Amino acid sequence: MNHLLSMTHLSESEILSLIHRAIEMKKGDYSKLHGELSIANLFFENSTRTKTSFEMAEFKLGIHSIPFDASKSSVIKGETLYDTCKTMEALGCDALVIRHEDNEYYNELEDINIPVINGGDGSGSHPTQSLLDLMTIYEQFETFKGLKVAIAGDISHSRVAHSNGEALTALGAEVFYSGPREWQDESSDSRYLDFDTAVETCDVIMLLRVQHERHMVSKEFSKEGYNKEYGMNDSRVKKMKQGAVIMHPAPVNRGVEIEDHLVESEKSVIFKQMENGVFMRMSILEKILKKDV
Ligand code: CP
Repeated sequence: MNHLLSMTHLSESEILSLIHRAIEMKKGDYSKLHGELSIANLFFENSTRTKTSFEMAEFKLGIHSIPFDASKSSVIKGETLYDTCKTMEALGCDALVIRHEDNEYYNELEDINIPVINGGDGSGSHPTQSLLDLMTIYEQFETFKGLKVAIAGDISHSRVAHSNGEALTALGAEVFYSGPREWQDESSDSRYLDFDTAVETCDVIMLLRVQHERHMVSKEFSKEGYNKEYGMNDSRVKKMKQGAVIMHPAPVNRGVEIEDHLVESEKSVIFKQMENGVFMRMSILEKILKKDV
């Protein structure tokens, strides 16, 4: 594995191997990588979880995180993404983690000779989020085969929905989509379930953030109205299957996709997803940087 660009670039055995290693690392079975390694985390879009958990994963593996702030960089003078990355390579970085607003931005980086890890491209892919989600599901159910997973909300703008839909289907889960009909896309339309049916029949209810910044949400949009039709609330939690879990990649719009007090409730694994993000990113970094693993 030289790069991690999308889930379609990973085989089933590579996904399972990354999950098993992340679970071992969560139990403390890891050591710092040998040599002086450094990574630049190039975030051209805002992030709390992905950026910080990569920094934490790098810290735990003894990798130096090179500070980079796009708003203070030469990108503001018009430097291209390619030239920014080629500069980091010339300065001696061993790998790059990149989040960028353009779908498949990585296609313009073919001549970069160090590993690129995609931290999210537009509405395209978010493979490291998908892998930490898969790890969380695997910890809960120990399999993907036959699991029913509902991905609900703003599907058309969600790189998380796209990555998880592809990966879970490849791993043998049954994936359904829900949420506002006008927020579905060609991948979700034919596997649509109304939200109440999804809640009553699925093992995993994966909620998605309403992406106000990417979406022209109408003036009539109301938090309460969205939650009543498409969100998780007390009456729906009572109808969930025994053992079923609520997931959300976060940040959460509390009171919209899920009622505030349910975010940290028994059925929610939302903060477990964040915790797992550190160990999954350690597993990815080890795989990419330690050539003998
Ligand atoms: N889930 C996720 O990608 O969160 P951030 O945007 O905070 O990184």
